[in-house]
Amino acid sequence: MPSSTTPGSSTLTIPTPGDIPRHVAIIMDGNGRWATKRYLPRTAGHIRGLQAVRRVVEACGKRGVEYLTLFAFSSENWRRPPEEVNFLMRLFVQTLEKQVDKLSEQGVRLRVVGDLSAFEPHLRELIDDAVARTRHNSALHLTIAANYGGRWDILQALRTMLAKHPELSQHPENIEEAMLLPYLAMAFAPEPDLFIRTGGEQRISNFMIWQLAYTELYFCEDFWPDFGARQIEAAFEWYRTRERRFGRTSAQLNG
Ligand code: FPP
Repeated sequence: MPSSTTPGSSTLTIPTPGDIPRHVAIIMDGNGRWATKRYLPRTAGHIRGLQAVRRVVEACGKRGVEYLTLFAFSSENWRRPPEEVNFLMRLFVQTLEKQVDKLSEQGVRLRVVGDLSAFEPHLRELIDDAVARTRHNSALHLTIAANYGGRWDILQALRTMLAKHPELSQHPENIEEAMLLPYLAMAFAPEPDLFIRTGGEQRISNFMIWQLAYTELYFCEDFWPDFGARQIEAAFEWYRTRERRFGRTSAQLNG
């Protein structure tokens, strides 16, 4: 079985793990509770959460992480009160208006994955512009998952693949795992090595459900606005203690 360090599938090839995760995927949870604990509006938690995003981007860049994927807004987050949804959208717009130059100076390549058709045109233009302006950078691939859901992704990949290859509808037995991979929204990245969820909940919540098949899952109690370089270091330290077997036995790994 060949090993792989490029994008692919952990159920088809065995990646070569290193001490520092190549790809870190994070559910940034706990903004609301951070604020409520301080008798502040939930929106204050999101503002502080944005500062944590900056700290984590910097820390991951310094530690040599190649891909950082952040779950900013799930397909289910539209169910929140409209004022909070509007606030998050405005925060997203302001971030794109003000932070892209700084990100670019840090060598960050920005991408946004998710069903962007639901966003207002101005936000979509800003996203396109930021993606285009940072496309030559390669120090850190930063992906924001917005209006994203893992089930949405699998469905859109399947639909796109079948639209391109209608003959497969007649012979679904010919559909193989590797054929779907290029159509997934995160096709450009290797699967995450490390998943982090802050805020104390131990759930994947429809985030990258295809790609997390062999990812190490790290849950911590800190609310996202309190997260930073020290907490990233703790997560990496824990990651180094994990034995990543990808279906093999311990004896095979150590023999
Ligand atoms: C989860 O906390 C956080 C969100 C749904 C929004 C994430 C947004 C940010 C970190 C700031 C903006 C980021 C960008 C990239 C512009 P929660 O509100 O679910 O917290 P709770 O579980 O305590 O209620």
